[in-house]
Order: sequence, then structure tokens, then C-alpha cells
Amino acid sequence: MKRDFLHITDFSTEEIRDTFELAAKVKRYVKEGKEDLPLKGKTMAMIFAKPSARTRVSFETGMTQLGGHAIFLGPNDIGIGKREAIKDIARVISRYDDIIMARLFDHAHILKLAEYSSVPVINGLTDLNHPCQVMADIFTILENKGSLNNLKVAFVGDSNNVANSWINLAARLPMHFVLASPCGYEPDPEILANARNTGLSTVEIVRNPVEAVKNADVIYTDVWASMGQEAEKEKRKRDFMPFQVNAELMSHAKPGVKVMHCLPVHRGDEITDEVIDSPNSIVFDEAENRMHVQKAIILKLMVG
Ligand code: CP
Ligand code: NVA
Repeated sequence: MKRDFLHITDFSTEEIRDTFELAAKVKRYVKEGKEDLPLKGKTMAMIFAKPSARTRVSFETGMTQLGGHAIFLGPNDIGIGKREAIKDIARVISRYDDIIMARLFDHAHILKLAEYSSVPVINGLTDLNHPCQVMADIFTILENKGSLNNLKVAFVGDSNNVANSWINLAARLPMHFVLASPCGYEPDPEILANARNTGLSTVEIVRNPVEAVKNADVIYTDVWASMGQEAEKEKRKRDFMPFQVNAELMSHAKPGVKVMHCLPVHRGDEITDEVIDSPNSIVFDEAENRMHVQKAIILKLMVG
């Protein structure tokens, strides 16, 4: 039975913890210059309907480091769902390649891609979720704090795909997750209900960013207008300005609080230069860990 990684909840708590161990191991190998080529002769197809820097480069480099190869298919190459039906693309690519990573708009499209692929499919971001990002984020927190016990994460900004994946994570690992978003910008209701129903974590939605960051170990933010929401940019900027992560907000947080952002960042909007470039910021560790964690996810799907 092939496995996909479309949502964090596709992995059990144990599998998530295994992924951290594997990620730490592959990261150590890279640092020590040790070669490990379990995917020799294997190819990943990378389908991008949206732009990317980190996702493309980290997956492609990660596949090379594992002895495999990755093919980049940009928005003008496949025309997924436009030039060709998703189910046909899924079946064709499955005949050539050993694994697929896709970044698409509509989450239903990645579900369909996975349904018709006979090889594993990894979600490289949809409008609903960004699971590889949040796996890298939590691994980065574990590295920095040494433990995930009594973790409080304050997500300040838009209840977007990244926030939804954080809420999915709260259904697998115990934490206190507080989302501070303006009224009218809510996370996915099913994802929220599922996380709350597991009873594992406390998942709060608040309207006041100051309340959210009190005693938080991590302050997380992301762009106010995600890819595909460009037309709403100006309205969102007005609505989200009180949620900017700036020195004033930081003054209400613990001195050692870590600041995270999945990048790309709109400096001066969701976060100021002063904060993202401060010693509290671990955004580049976070970006680097995308590669190590994704290699671990690929290995879990392809090798077990
Ligand atoms: N964080 C992230 O996914 O970056 P890209 O959009 O550049 O891939
Ligand atoms: N929420 C952002 C994340 C980018 C990596 C977006 O979807 O554009």
C-alpha cells in the first residue's frame, strides 16, 4: 500500500517522532559530509502550480543528496487540470517516477492526484495546508529548545494554510497553540474541530495578539496575503496591521521567545526588520530544516 503525506495528520504521533529522528540523522550526515544514497536511481516529479524558492530547492537538493533525482515541472509545463485532467497526469507520472511532490491551489486537486497516483504524493503546499513546512518548524523548535514539553506557540496573523497545518500538528503532539487573527479570518473549521476533539492540545483563537504572545515559547507569523490572494492585498493589509510582529508586541513576550516565519517575508508588513533580524529569530534554521525534514518524509514514504 503506497503512503502519501498530504496532511500532518496522515502521520501518527509515533511516525512524526520517527521523522524527527530520521531528520536529525540525515542532517548530521550532510554536516559530516557522509554519503548516504538509498534513493539511487529514483526520481521525484515536482509539480508546481505556484511559485517557490525553498520548496523547490530543498526537495531537489534533498533528492540529489539521497542519490536520486528530481524533475521540476512549473506552472507552464503540465497545466494541471487545464491542459490535462489530474487523474491522467497522476497515472502517467506514476509510470515514470517513484514519488510526486506537488504545490497546487485547490486542496481537492492534490487529493485527486494522490487518489490516482500509484506512487507516494507529498503536499508541497495547497490553499488549505503546508504540512512539510510545519514539520520543519516543529523540528526546528525541538532542536532549539531540546524538548517539546509544555510548548506554547503563538501564531499571529492570517489563519492560512500554514496555520491550518499547525492546528493539525496540535492533533498529534501536545501543545498550547494560540492563533491571533482578526474576526473574519478563521482557520478551517473541520481541522479546528478535529484538533479540539482529540483533546491532546489546547487550541485557542484570540483577537488580541498581546494576549497570544504572553508566555509563548514561539511567535510565528506568515504573509497576510497568500499566493492566490493578491487581489485582497490592500484590504488585508488594513485588517492585519494591528497583528504586526514588531518591537512593541515583542515587549509583551518572554525575553528568550523564538520568532519564526516560513518565508518569503514581506518585511515591514507582518513583521518588522528589527524583529526578523533579531537574535530571537530562527527563520534561517527553519528554512534549512525544510530540506532535512523533507528527506526524512521522503524516506519514510519510500523506504519505510
Ligand atoms: N516556505 C516556503 O514554502 O517557501 P517557498 O514558497 O519559497 O517554497
Ligand atoms: N501562506 C503562504 C505560505 C508561503 C510559503 C502562501 O500560501 O503563500
